[in-house]
Amino acid sequence: MRILVTGGLGFIGSHFARRLATAGDEVVVLDKLTYAGNPANLDGVSHELHIGDIASPADVERAAGGCEAIVNFAAETHVDRSLLGAAEFIHTDVHGTYVLLEHARSAGVRVVQVSTDEVYGDVPPGESSTESDPLRPSSPYAASKAGGDLLVLAHVRTFGVDAAITRGSNTYGPNQYPEKLIPLFVTNALDGEPLPLYGDGRQTRDWLHVSDHCAAIELVLRRGEPGGVYNVGGGCELPNLDVAERILELTGAPRDLLRHVEDRPGHDRRYSLDSARLRALGWQPERTFEDGLAETVEWYRARRDWWEPLRSGEHFRAYAERQYGRRLAQG
Ligand code: NAD
Ligand code: DAU
Repeated sequence: MRILVTGGLGFIGSHFARRLATAGDEVVVLDKLTYAGNPANLDGVSHELHIGDIASPADVERAAGGCEAIVNFAAETHVDRSLLGAAEFIHTDVHGTYVLLEHARSAGVRVVQVSTDEVYGDVPPGESSTESDPLRPSSPYAASKAGGDLLVLAHVRTFGVDAAITRGSNTYGPNQYPEKLIPLFVTNALDGEPLPLYGDGRQTRDWLHVSDHCAAIELVLRRGEPGGVYNVGGGCELPNLDVAERILELTGAPRDLLRHVEDRPGHDRRYSLDSARLRALGWQPERTFEDGLAETVEWYRARRDWWEPLRSGEHFRAYAERQYGRRLAQG
């Protein structure tokens, strides 16, 4: 199949593009090359690259020609950045999704919308979100993703667009821009810099290896029902403090690098997914967190050539100062 992978220069999108190319599919990538996009992520992967914006109908037309399906990874994805300013989140995650859906409507192609467990908001202890639960997003990022999901479902029902949604949990692995918990803490630890843990560090996330996430998305692309929504949970719920301690152990960094800092406003305490619907299609996570995290740490240890230019760039430094400068000075 000829498949358009939007956001294919980012973290999960690039792993997915590699997976499709290995399976023999023809891969077309449309990516705006924001700070999170990196052409090096597709080194060695056969693909046709279009630099452009999913919110531009002309860019989408140009890239999507001849494609039988679109898998939409393109998004602004970092919760903390959405708290500093959400305009780009609404532009890409809401309006961009609308433009892709309008293309799918006129071209009659299938869409898989890659969404997130954050659309359900905080999940009380002992409960897990199912696909029919109400959407209660907490951050502007989560609200933008929920807006995209609702547009998908409206296009399915009203215009008969063939689209499905995946809602994945916190994903980790190689090639993740070093701003989210795991890649930030691993690269900070390798550089001997503080690990800024928000609040008490007892918030839990359900960790999913990027290869398991991509396997799930591919299954939904090939076998998901039109209008189907599929949760993709890693089945590995851990408090952030545990994750930070494992990173210190794996990197050999001293424990006093750990700093409790001012919490993230609106911070969701817990996410938890019921993935029974996807498991009924035959999916289950293959990677354990122990093994996946150790491999990820080794990847960052070996690939300073990949992340050092990102962390020393003006974009990362300005963001890190704004996000952590005052927090760490207070701590
Ligand atoms: P990422 O931030 O690493 O990459 C996003 C990519 O999208 C970048 O290459 C960027 O250049 C591109 N992009 C941004 N705006 C664009 C636009 N307007 N037009 C075209 N390209 C644009 O993201 P990721 O972590 O790989 O996440 C991919 C998708 O998976 C997102 O939709 C995200 O919401 C979802 N998701 C992520 C996680 C996670 O833990 N990372 C978990 C669940 C779901
Ligand atoms: O749940 C899926 C979502 O996971 C995706 O949709 C998002 O794109 C992705 O960014 C991620 O969102 P989170 O906010 O859960 O991920 P993040 O890595 O930013 O934070 C994970 C947890 O770690 C969260 O409880 C906040 C905490 N944290 C994070 C950072 C960056 C810290 O304590 N300190 C930090 O510096």
